Amino acid sequence: MSSKNLDFGTFAQDVMIGLSSNPKTLPSKYFYDTKGDKLFQKIMELPDYYLTRKEFEIFEKQFEDILQPILNLSQSFNLVELGAGDGLKTKILLSHLINKKADFEYFPIDFSGSVLDELKDSISSVFPELKVTCIEDTYRGSLLRRSWDNGKPCLILFLGSNLGNFSLEEALDILDHLKIGASHGDFVLLGIDLKKNPQTILNAYNDPKGITRNFNLNLLERINRELNGDFDLDTFMHWPSYDPLSGECRSHLISMKEQTVNLKVLDQSFHFEAFEPIFTEISKKYSLSEIEQLAQKGGFKTIENFTDDANYFADVLWRRI
Ligand code: AVI
Repeated sequence: MSSKNLDFGTFAQDVMIGLSSNPKTLPSKYFYDTKGDKLFQKIMELPDYYLTRKEFEIFEKQFEDILQPILNLSQSFNLVELGAGDGLKTKILLSHLINKKADFEYFPIDFSGSVLDELKDSISSVFPELKVTCIEDTYRGSLLRRSWDNGKPCLILFLGSNLGNFSLEEALDILDHLKIGASHGDFVLLGIDLKKNPQTILNAYNDPKGITRNFNLNLLERINRELNGDFDLDTFMHWPSYDPLSGECRSHLISMKEQTVNLKVLDQSFHFEAFEPIFTEISKKYSLSEIEQLAQKGGFKTIENFTDDANYFADVLWRRI
């Protein structure tokens, strides 16, 4: 990368690095601009995208058992949420805690300030008495800074299979950060998608309406918009694949012809061979025994595994040893 390019923002730098790599890659965190956020909302409503509904089912049916351990402490606590998003599922937990007259403060953490603003507004309208302190930060940054730390015990939520968007190596690194971010005795509730019939998983990332395709293609659209690129979206195909051994569902965008794409803001051109892929996202699935290994490696003790009736999804409650 030329020194001139080092002046660009992180998006430009990451696009430059990703499209210069072999194989080409683009980080999935850049899916989530205004358009990407809306497309993800639509994905969560798709019949094939079971993840959100299954986690919802777990919360609706088992919220009392999930929250009992933190309530048993009978003291004031912090509810910290990494990657809070729209907080829809969390509202089930908030509602129970408020009904139980629990003394707690809610700290939603998200990379996107606009997501946090919307979340704060919607939470304040439903639970006006709840103290909410938003933290605009990354997962790792927030766990290192621990800006919620007021000496009270914590229940840290990391829901929605967000950990699945990292390779195993990265996930272990995030769990190392979680170990730093949590004090001894703190609870962690981790939402993880489970290994299951490979076809069910593949269908979740290849819906017939093409919403997931558009979500994936939005990465190229975003490059066109923000970096003045000339990607021809019609020449790229959305291609998810699932490996039942590693549990990795990987999404690609495949150039259907040989072509050169120009990004004016970077003053760079990128050559694509016919059928060359760009790797855009990993959505990793785990078995319950693999999740147990994660807990042990990460320095956590499993309190209970909560699953939906079909055993599609798990919310595992851990305690920091
Ligand atoms: C946010 N994340 C857990 C979603 C997933 O299932 O990996 C993002 C997503 N990508 C395609 N569909 C949904």
